[in-house]
Amino acid sequence: MFHTTIKAALAGVALVALGISGAQAQQALKLGYSLAPTSHYGVGATAMAEELERLSDGKFTIEQFPANALGGEREMVEGAQIGTVDIVITSTGPVGNFVPDTLITDIPFLFRDYEHAHAVLDGPIGQEILAQFPNHGLIGLAWGENGFRNLTNNVRPIRTPEDTQGLKVRTMENQVHMRAFQELGVLPTPMAFPELFTALQQGTVDGQENPIGVILSANFSQVQDHLTLTQHVYSPALIILSPIVWDGLTDEEKGWFEEAAAAGAAAMREKVREDADNGVATLKEQGMQVVEDPDRAAFEAALQPAFAEFAERFGQDKIDAIRNTG
Ligand code: PAF
Repeated sequence: MFHTTIKAALAGVALVALGISGAQAQQALKLGYSLAPTSHYGVGATAMAEELERLSDGKFTIEQFPANALGGEREMVEGAQIGTVDIVITSTGPVGNFVPDTLITDIPFLFRDYEHAHAVLDGPIGQEILAQFPNHGLIGLAWGENGFRNLTNNVRPIRTPEDTQGLKVRTMENQVHMRAFQELGVLPTPMAFPELFTALQQGTVDGQENPIGVILSANFSQVQDHLTLTQHVYSPALIILSPIVWDGLTDEEKGWFEEAAAAGAAAMREKVREDADNGVATLKEQGMQVVEDPDRAAFEAALQPAFAEFAERFGQDKIDAIRNTG
């Protein structure tokens, strides 16, 4: 006991001599995302922060910057590459522009349901994609979730692909999504999320597409009349860390970050499910006209020419490996 006390005191003296106080040894990390703190991203960020603080005994803390405070998703990912942002929670939307291997996950009607998506992303296919991130100046800590995307617009109720002809729809800055929407006769208008609410309000675009949790959290019922539960594409999210933080960590600390990100991803997925189950009723109460059962098979059939291009680009074998998982 006596020796332990002396050792601790000597260690303290040594740290002071080196100019490293307890407070300085702590690291506060900046985590950015595009949605409100009450959204699935906010819930995921809080769960990750609590777990990281607990595992590291307070050495690492996370300060959250919600609602695009650090920029749109593309800007935040760029920030992680250069170290101005430490952690980003983002959809895969812009990530394919940095890590092209993620683009395969953006193919419409690829994932049957949430269980299928989790089996793929948490299994070898998803983990191999995460392993590509360091080659592109990023660390992919975990697959989180944004959810199945649905179409909203201000022109007409959408039931079939014929109804989408000529609509101007904001898409994410994602080549796969844009190609698919083109096939539906839509004019895809790529736009960063922070500009979207005003664009809908001013009629610069007729519609947009996002999961129920986003439509709720971003208050799109204020600027969109029609919602169709197209569920046309599963939108994965990613928890990305700056390599500048990662390279300074010990192996034990890297394990804490991975564990904390897994806790964040699990909490995010739970909240996405809750919103998907309960959110449509809220959106109806807020005045949206909802088409609950559009002709999804017709939408999938209309996309065949785009699917043929995706098969050529990504490999039919890789697409089949995803479809056949689970
Ligand atoms: O539509 C998007 O850009 C994304 O789904 C969002 C809302 C930023 C969440 O990742």
